[in-house]
Amino acid sequence: MSPMASAMLSLLCVLSALTASGHALSCKVCMASFSTWCDGASVVCPAGQVCVSAYTLTTVDGSKVSEEFSRACGPTSQCNTPGSVAIPRGKIKRNTSCCFTENCFPPTPSLPEDNSELNGVTCSTCISPDSDWCHTEETMRCTGNENMCVLESSHQYEPLEQLTAIRGCATQSICDIGTQEVAYGFLNMTMKIKCSSASSPLYSPLLPSFTLTVASILAVLSLW
Ligand SMILES: *[C@@H]1O[C@H](CO)[C@@H](O)[C@H](O)[C@H]1NC(C)=O
Ligand SMILES: *[C@@H]1O[C@H](CO)[C@@H](O)[C@H](O)[C@H]1NC(C)=O
Repeated sequence: MSPMASAMLSLLCVLSALTASGHALSCKVCMASFSTWCDGASVVCPAGQVCVSAYTLTTVDGSKVSEEFSRACGPTSQCNTPGSVAIPRGKIKRNTSCCFTENCFPPTPSLPEDNSELNGVTCSTCISPDSDWCHTEETMRCTGNENMCVLESSHQYEPLEQLTAIRGCATQSICDIGTQEVAYGFLNMTMKIKCSSASSPLYSPLLPSFTLTVASILAVLSLW
């Protein structure tokens, strides 16, 4: 790059940073279970961020076991990011929406439709209610755009110390969440999401305590 071009580029960066900080937005921060609405304290967002809502629904054997709705500040890259995770008996679906004015209420996002068409990806699957790692011989065939194999592990510190792990199929948008540290109200936890495009099953025993595990993982997916 020429010196001129690089000078202009850095000027552009400074200008856009100034513009962003000149328009620091305030957004409501809240979280609610079994709801598609919440209200809470207004906070001033970091420069350039917007108001984001996340809606997450978990079903086990076709029945709703958890529904979480949250509002927070977030980068625009978090707007409109539908995604899902599947395990043999359950499904977690989420989507996000944004709005761009003071303390605005982002619309409740709709969730991706089920798609049962096999996509050729096979992933190992397991659930551990008491460890941040799991591996079994069990596999599942992925469907729709859930074409990544995911290992989601969480370490909750507060209110209770709890480790959980889940493997299954996921969309790329879930993989993009990566590692999240969540401290909100009484909740303090770290969640790691790692993905690969194929997985090789290995042996390990499995002790499922299904809904409990899914519910705590959920809390984090919807807070992110
Ligand atoms: C996700 O939410 C956005 C914003 O509300 C919406 O435009 C989009 O259609 C939703 N995607 C799905 C798959 O429902
Ligand atoms: C969350 O828990 C970890 C581990 O106990 C601790 O180091 C961290 O300070 C806690 N964070 C908050 C915000 O309480």
